[in-house]
Amino acid sequence: MRLKTPYYLIHERKLLKNLKTIQALKKSSGAKFLLALKCFSGWCVFNLISKYMDGTTSSSLNEARLGKEKFSKETHLYCVAFSGNEVKQARMYADTIIFNSISQLKKFHKDTGKLRVGLRINPGVSFSNFSLADPARKYSRLGVIDKKELLRIGNLISGVLFHFNCENNSFKDFSSNLDFIENTYGNLLERINWVSLGGGISFTQEGYPLPKLSERLKRFREKFNIQLYMEPGEAVIANSAELITTVIDVVRNNINIAIVEVSTEAHMLDLLVYGLPAKIKTTGKGKHKYIIAGRSCLAGDIFGIFRFKRPLRAGKILRISDAAGYTMVKKNWFNGLDMPSIAVKKMNGTIKTVRKFSYDDFLNSLS
Ligand SMILES: Cc1ncc(COP(=O)(O)O)c(C=O)c1O
Repeated sequence: MRLKTPYYLIHERKLLKNLKTIQALKKSSGAKFLLALKCFSGWCVFNLISKYMDGTTSSSLNEARLGKEKFSKETHLYCVAFSGNEVKQARMYADTIIFNSISQLKKFHKDTGKLRVGLRINPGVSFSNFSLADPARKYSRLGVIDKKELLRIGNLISGVLFHFNCENNSFKDFSSNLDFIENTYGNLLERINWVSLGGGISFTQEGYPLPKLSERLKRFREKFNIQLYMEPGEAVIANSAELITTVIDVVRNNINIAIVEVSTEAHMLDLLVYGLPAKIKTTGKGKHKYIIAGRSCLAGDIFGIFRFKRPLRAGKILRISDAAGYTMVKKNWFNGLDMPSIAVKKMNGTIKTVRKFSYDDFLNSLS
């Protein structure tokens, strides 16, 4: 039976392909791999992911709780700033806590109990095509900059986090930034037990030089005799889900515009934030050109311009690919639009709807 659109469809088989890459990298590099929940928190497939990854890393107490309760294994918690008694509460869910500043480290260290404690460092080098997502951008608040201060915190920490990449598909660039980190923080790295290099490396992309990455990670790990962690989000779920939606109207304003049930703003926010086109499989380089537009009231709610072999009519189903990362975790109820359900295409080919949303969910998101 055909599912009612719109829905996000997570493909276990495609996910598995990425997970096998992670499995091989883990084995050859000796690094541990944690799923970054900020990118993907689709716990309906955590059973599968947790067979191949070592745990999760989170950005808030809520994510840490989800990681602990639905994924288990190792649970790291980093937050840009903790407040109130969050650090004490974190002891219920996390095994490792990472502070973003020396002031927070000093303030909350007494509350950390048996948690392993780390600190985020901003090495001042990074890779990102977008200033918005560049952790080392001017005036960045993400991580400690002052190297002298780092030396003064003594034994308060057992490890550090450097998250300095965003969709970095250049091994050369990653490796040279790692050289910089080795040279700049060598004294500190020799004294600690673990290092996380964060996420943002596109190592599941076709053609990424995996043997080189593995060798480089191994060398770094062995040089400082540390437990190395990687925190991929996007690389874990790249190309493993679609957002499936139906065209509900076609209008014309110099160009044909097909309006679909979903919206960039509400269901694939990053397209708007970063000004990127959606990936929509069309039937080829047809002569019928359309703007595919969302149905929110936002004038610029546009998925992109695509060509089709045949004219689009209301009722045509479109499949937007690469729809797992930073989509479901960011969805919102703007305009009160229907929320896409979530479905999983299991390894055996059957499709199961795992979540449907209703008016009550909209109602309960407000008061
Ligand atoms: C600290 C940290 N770790 C991991 C990630 C995951 O990055 P990605 O999804 O690009 O792999 C992010 C993303 O912003 C991050 O801030």
